[in-house]
Amino acid sequence: MKEELLAKIEALQKEAVQVLSSFQSIKELQDYKIHVLGKKGLLTEVLKGLGGLSPEERPLVGQRANEVKQTIESQLILLQKSLEGKEKEAKFRSQKIDATLPGLQFGKGFRHPLSLVQKEIEQIFLNLGFSIHEGPDCESDYYNFGALNFPPDHPAREMQDTFYIKSEIRNPKSELLLRTHTSPVQIRVMEKQKPPLYIIAPGAVYRHDHDVTHSPMFHQVEGLMVDTNITFGDLKGVLTLFCRTIFGADRKVRFRPSFFPFVEPGAEVDISCALCNGKGCRVCGGDGWLEILGAGMVHPAVLEEVKIDPKKYSGFAFGMGVERIAMLKYGIDDIRLFYESDLRFLEQF
Ligand code: DAH
Repeated sequence: MKEELLAKIEALQKEAVQVLSSFQSIKELQDYKIHVLGKKGLLTEVLKGLGGLSPEERPLVGQRANEVKQTIESQLILLQKSLEGKEKEAKFRSQKIDATLPGLQFGKGFRHPLSLVQKEIEQIFLNLGFSIHEGPDCESDYYNFGALNFPPDHPAREMQDTFYIKSEIRNPKSELLLRTHTSPVQIRVMEKQKPPLYIIAPGAVYRHDHDVTHSPMFHQVEGLMVDTNITFGDLKGVLTLFCRTIFGADRKVRFRPSFFPFVEPGAEVDISCALCNGKGCRVCGGDGWLEILGAGMVHPAVLEEVKIDPKKYSGFAFGMGVERIAMLKYGIDDIRLFYESDLRFLEQF
């Protein structure tokens, strides 16, 4: 019994010495450790046999078993260290940096097409002596509609168009909404400043509308010129100059009567289609003209609301969609391209 156990122990040591030196990976080492020293390992099984030995034999065999166990363990530790070193070195070699390779190319930043067009619009009016004003995106019903002469039952107030902000207070004067146009900035400026006023107001606006040419959030640039003796002739002069600067000196510009509650008379401004030169095509819907902006002479009721005397002062206002102008300028037929952050599109401007 004793001899048998000792023979097993010696055999284990012999095997360990041979096998261990052939291992190439830490994984193999760990598997072997479990195979020999684990709970059900070979040496552990041998140690279980100690119980069957006489009290005199037991320490002798036990000691030998422990010696072998320690030999194997220290061998395992040594080998593990050496393999770890080898693995590290191999990793290091494979990741070695070649300093002679060309560096990574970082793309230069550039402006978004909407930002480009907005800046272009702004610059035209800055050159004419206008200044830039801003107003809040979240407006009250009063600034967005009431002060702009929208009657209480005007269809533009309808839920289908306007995003209302839920509030406990149902008071039309303080009811909150996302502005549906930049025209409320006219009121905010005229409340604080008196003529002469030459201002533009760029910014985001919101409407419940979504298809290839409409987005629930889009951008407008509003304009307002109030002074003594401002006439419809000034409106036509400024807006014709604007259209030709942005779309080309050879564009024809047309003013059509239209209605907006805050102007009288109101107009819509068209330019001749650049694609077909007024002959009629897919882009202009066949009639040769493209609608660019809304405009008109500031309604006396609006001037009165902000305590500017309509007998002394007159003015004109206009509003245009930045997306629409960018789409026409660059021939883009889907408004969603502006918001999808696809660099293949954005890099082209
Ligand atoms: N606010 C109008 C809209 O969003 C556009 C507009 C029309 C603005 C006529 C004006 C104007 O200032 O005079 O449809």
